Amino acid sequence: MSLTGRVALVTGASQGIGRTCALRLAKDGATVAAAARNQEKLNELVAEITAAGGKAAAFALDVADEDQVKATVKAAIAQFGKIDILVNNAGITRDQLVMRMKRADWDAVLQTNLTSAYLCIQAVISSMLKQRWGRIINITSIFGQMGQAGQANYSASKAGLIGLTMAIAREVGSRNITSNAVAPGFIETAMTAVLSDEFKQAAVKQIPLARVGSPEDVASAVAFLASDDASYITGHVMNVNGGMLMG
Ligand code: NAI
Repeated sequence: MSLTGRVALVTGASQGIGRTCALRLAKDGATVAAAARNQEKLNELVAEITAAGGKAAAFALDVADEDQVKATVKAAIAQFGKIDILVNNAGITRDQLVMRMKRADWDAVLQTNLTSAYLCIQAVISSMLKQRWGRIINITSIFGQMGQAGQANYSASKAGLIGLTMAIAREVGSRNITSNAVAPGFIETAMTAVLSDEFKQAAVKQIPLARVGSPEDVASAVAFLASDDASYITGHVMNVNGGMLMG
């Protein structure tokens, strides 16, 4: 098990990609601090990990709230001694054409998707610096790389995450901390369940591998970047998009 002895904090772990990442990291041997707003769903996740012989704890957290981020990181470090791996996964959409977009929807998406990552990185970084080992993994999106009509706020937040990923990689690389992003394409979760069948069929036509992705496809990339096998990879954006965007 490649992550034995490691402690991972995963945000947005209550469902979808975050939940699957938490399960995968635990399966690979990491102790998981699972954070999201829904404590009940997190408790179910923790029970599932524990039943499979893993170790995890639930932390109710709104990632857009600075005080809650600080308190959660403090509590996780108090319980597990450190945080080695941070997966900034929590994210939302509030889609609208820019001419009709409400300022509140711009702010909510930027805060939840981008500012949250800055807050979480800032909260965990001294623990990583002290031990001279760390893995920061930000879940961005193909739409942060190529833009998407109706998602100016979302695309901007995800493009911002890529810049953040690279800046952090440069700041802390000399301390053996890597900072990478994973850019999923079209993944089957609650976030994409709301899209029409028509949209989904059109999207699949743009995917060389001719299928939508699964949360497991994303979790595999996260587990690799978290492992020692990826120790010379930093500032990288790993596409998990079935070939929908290349280069
Ligand atoms: P989801 O909607 O199923 O899960 C989002 C998670 O984030 C949930 O656990 C939710 O509770 C949590 N979350 C949202 N706001 C939060 C807040 N303020 N505080 C704490 N937790 C919060 O969506 P999915 O698909 O699993 O998305 C996970 C990440 O992957 C997101 O960052 C999303 O932008 C990204 N992504 C998803 C793609 C897809 O096709 N599903 C494609 C590209 C990126």
